[in-house]
Amino acid sequence: MTEPRIGEPFDGFADDYARRLDDPLRRQFAADGDFFIRQKCHALVREIRHRLGRSRESHLRLLDAGCGTGTAMRILRPFSSVVGTDVSLPMLQRVKPGGRVAATEPFALPFADHSFDVAFAFCVYHHIAPQQQARHLGELGRVVRPGGVVSIFEHNPLNPITRRIFERAEIDQGCQMIPAKQLHRMFTEAGFTDVRCTYMLFVPESLAAWLGFIEPYLGWLPLGGQYFVSGTKTVA
Ligand SMILES: C[S@@+](CC[C@H](N)C(=O)[O-])C[C@H]1O[C@@H](n2cnc3c(N)ncnc32)[C@H](O)[C@@H]1O
Repeated sequence: MTEPRIGEPFDGFADDYARRLDDPLRRQFAADGDFFIRQKCHALVREIRHRLGRSRESHLRLLDAGCGTGTAMRILRPFSSVVGTDVSLPMLQRVKPGGRVAATEPFALPFADHSFDVAFAFCVYHHIAPQQQARHLGELGRVVRPGGVVSIFEHNPLNPITRRIFERAEIDQGCQMIPAKQLHRMFTEAGFTDVRCTYMLFVPESLAAWLGFIEPYLGWLPLGGQYFVSGTKTVA
């Protein structure tokens, strides 16, 4: 039997991707998936400002690897220029007009070395086989300039509610959650510096307007719904 092509399941999810993510537990936290992506974008922008400063931010070149239907690209566009890539053409076909996208091979991005200041992936790595994740991270490292940043966002296996939602999500069947420590080690072994893990998604959408400001202060607490690991590409 031949192995399914990486990303192939998403070809079949593209038509009703949002509905397939729906879960009653998830709905307790936010009305729909956009909230989760918006919060990741806020966290990413904070991380970029922390690592690269604010002075050149409107000129930054961002890569959204595994952009899916392009929600993060739409949210980040006022901040900086963003290019999205995905292995699933049907997912890319749902990106709203104006989004710059490219269909890619799983481990070969169609960009020259050092093309981007920042590369990020939102909830993509658990869809890549564990033994192939380091290879993908190496490819993100290749297309980021020295001194640039790579950030990988994932579900937090230490949060029992996230775990429960993950286990019953149709799109995550056959996938394994990635412990933060494992991803942290992968960044270090790939040669990134200043590798740091930050936890996020503590405050539900209904309270975000009032209490959202505490999110950045809780980044050390391994109980958030998701987390991200970031590293800076070594300057040769
Ligand atoms: C759970 S979806 C997340 C989409 C988007 N990042 C978001 O947050 O809405 C995972 C996406 O990763 C894509 N994907 C999986 N493996 C990939 C790879 N090796 N390279 C690029 N995209 C990949 C899938 O096709 C799918 O669109």
